[in-house]
Amino acid sequence: MDVASTREAVKTETAKLLYDGRTYELPVIVGSEGEKAIDITKLRNQTGLITLDNGYMNTGSCQSAITFIDGEQGILRYRGYPIEDLAEKSTFLEVAWLLIFGELPTRTRLEGFTNEITRHTMLHEDYRRLFDFMPKSAHPMPVSAAAVAALGTFYREADTEDRMHRAIVRLLAKMPTIAAYAYKHSIGQPPMYPRNDLDYCANFLYMMFATPCEPYVVDPVVAKALDLLLILHADHEQNCSTSTVRLVGSSLANLYATIASGISALWGPLHGGANQKVIEMLERIAMEEGNADVFIRKAKDKNDTTRLMGFGHRVYKSYDPRAAILKRTCKEVIERVGASSRLLEIAMRLEEVALSDPYFVERKLYPNVDFYSGVIYQAIGIPVNMFTVMFTMGRLPGWIAQWLEMRKDPSFKIGRPRQVYTGPTKRAYVPLEGRG
Ligand code: CMC
Repeated sequence: MDVASTREAVKTETAKLLYDGRTYELPVIVGSEGEKAIDITKLRNQTGLITLDNGYMNTGSCQSAITFIDGEQGILRYRGYPIEDLAEKSTFLEVAWLLIFGELPTRTRLEGFTNEITRHTMLHEDYRRLFDFMPKSAHPMPVSAAAVAALGTFYREADTEDRMHRAIVRLLAKMPTIAAYAYKHSIGQPPMYPRNDLDYCANFLYMMFATPCEPYVVDPVVAKALDLLLILHADHEQNCSTSTVRLVGSSLANLYATIASGISALWGPLHGGANQKVIEMLERIAMEEGNADVFIRKAKDKNDTTRLMGFGHRVYKSYDPRAAILKRTCKEVIERVGASSRLLEIAMRLEEVALSDPYFVERKLYPNVDFYSGVIYQAIGIPVNMFTVMFTMGRLPGWIAQWLEMRKDPSFKIGRPRQVYTGPTKRAYVPLEGRG
């Protein structure tokens, strides 16, 4: 399997650490976009110290050649290509190839890859019965996580180049089928088998919305909008779910189990689950006569746990470029499919109020990818509890690319952070009868 290699960052300068009367020199490494990091790999051996960084706010966990983000400037690039160009000119499977293999595919390679994926979309009939054992009321995210982990019971470990490639193809091919089956099960409808004459997104929409009783014609505008959404979600460097994938994968765990762990991490409302929370927030505001100002007041109140969902980001301290693309796309999609623009209007009003409020301005809180994505999902008919599953479908190539990069890294190590212990020091065991 051809994969573009990770460039080693350059080491030219050093940083000095003065501790306990001694000076230690630590190498400073510089990435291809000029980002600098102090290499502390030998810190504990040399000084006895470890670093403490709650939430990994300042910790680089790896060197990676996949995605570049400049959070101050609002820049996002996959393998060097600006997200705006990929969103306008590319397709999701082309972007998946780019992320996983490092270069844009030739026409022949893309056709071959698309063909491989198309031919692996079906689920084994025994595996399909798995969905029957899930409660209908279950959220489709844990159902998807369980189903992806269960692929590991049907297919062999990705322990050779060839098997790695096949596992990657299977994951990309089967994820839309799993997602659609999870939805169909939740509403009590029979699953629809995938159709090889449809492209990736059209096939997914067909499996979601067709029934055996009625023909379903996929609207190309809707399929195109979905393809764009998947491209925008495809990778985002070392976020919570991707770091989870790297950490779990670093134990050499099975690839399907590793990806399932990423799905579980993504589900949380502070991460991918925010897209569902945004639409629930907008609907609540709509029910309360659309008063954005009251909601913003609650989001600023430190005694209230309310947050403005879809706002703020650990890395972006300016407008998330994905949100900017989605905001423009919202209007086009709503007009083309004739959906109500009520929630979009509320979202735009919320954004206007927040971006002129010192609380949000001082903290550099801007709309993130989840702020407008839900409005589009809703306009194209995706049920609210499936929004985060859409994010999963989009993020899958990113997780795979990051896992593969880690596995092919010559300096690969199991992930194992340290801690500063703050519990009791050694004490004598007290037998039960002596504890009162
Ligand atoms: N509404 C109100 N206040 C906020 C918000 C928000 N959405 N986000 C951050 N703040 C405040 C926060 O209270 C804190 O204030 P103070 O300095 O007074 O304590 C300050 O801004 C910094 O926030 P933080 O929580 O320390 O920042 P973080 O980098 O740890 O968290 C975040 C980032 C995305 C978890 C957070 O902004 C958030 O909870 N946003 C809402 C959930 C959301 O939209 N998540 C999707 C993220 S993008 C998709 C993805 O990749 O997951």
